[in-house]
Amino acid sequence: MEDLETWLERVYQADGERKTLDTLYDEWAHDYDQQLWASGNPYIAIATGLIGRHVRDYEAKILDVGCGTGNMAQVLHQMGYRNIEGLDPSSGMLAVAQRKEVYQQLHQLYLDSRVDLADDSFDAVVAAGVLTHGHAPPESLDGILKLTRPGGTIVFSLSAIAYDEFGFKPKISALEETGKWEKLDQSLLFRTYPFSAKEAHLRHWVLAYRKSD
Ligand SMILES: C[S@@+](CC[C@H](N)C(=O)[O-])C[C@H]1O[C@@H](n2cnc3c(N)ncnc32)[C@H](O)[C@@H]1O
Repeated sequence: MEDLETWLERVYQADGERKTLDTLYDEWAHDYDQQLWASGNPYIAIATGLIGRHVRDYEAKILDVGCGTGNMAQVLHQMGYRNIEGLDPSSGMLAVAQRKEVYQQLHQLYLDSRVDLADDSFDAVVAAGVLTHGHAPPESLDGILKLTRPGGTIVFSLSAIAYDEFGFKPKISALEETGKWEKLDQSLLFRTYPFSAKEAHLRHWVLAYRKSD
């Protein structure tokens, strides 16, 4: 069985080539949950905490973007949220997510600047591990905003590398400056994989925004 570091190297080496990336996630799906939780990566804990702080209605319609095997919704479901949909391009990851029975619907789609779902149709959108190099580009924040209703909540993890080097910094600033959203919350910068010496350089935040009315 390949370890977490090997899978991470493979997905980042795919360099955004979508077919390759989808195939890698299809193959990783079987071991993904065990490796994710064993890695100590706290982004799901923080993202679900911020949903709990900012989305007080358990009936809220929430979209988990890049839902993978459904770890985010599994926790949200345990917290009491019941109206969760998921979106991911990898059929292998979605098959694991489906078995958890925590999603009302799953959509095999990419997040990009446009997404083939109704505009303004979610009270909240959450994304962990997907707004990053070679996955969903900075313009996909426009796609998230389109899907979120005015006044809705957006929570996402963001790597410091994606922010500094892959265009997320100017995109996030532009959305703030043009009044598309306002920041609600930001975690401290944390080490993404606290038990991995090889990935010791990786850092993330989790951020929360409110889509403007
Ligand atoms: C690191 S995994 C995170 C999975 C899940 N959110 C979690 O935290 O356990 C990244 C996921 O993003 C998906 N992904 C990659 N590019 C994407 C895109 N453009 N739109 C939506 N999902 C994407 C992958 O298929 C994979 O399931």
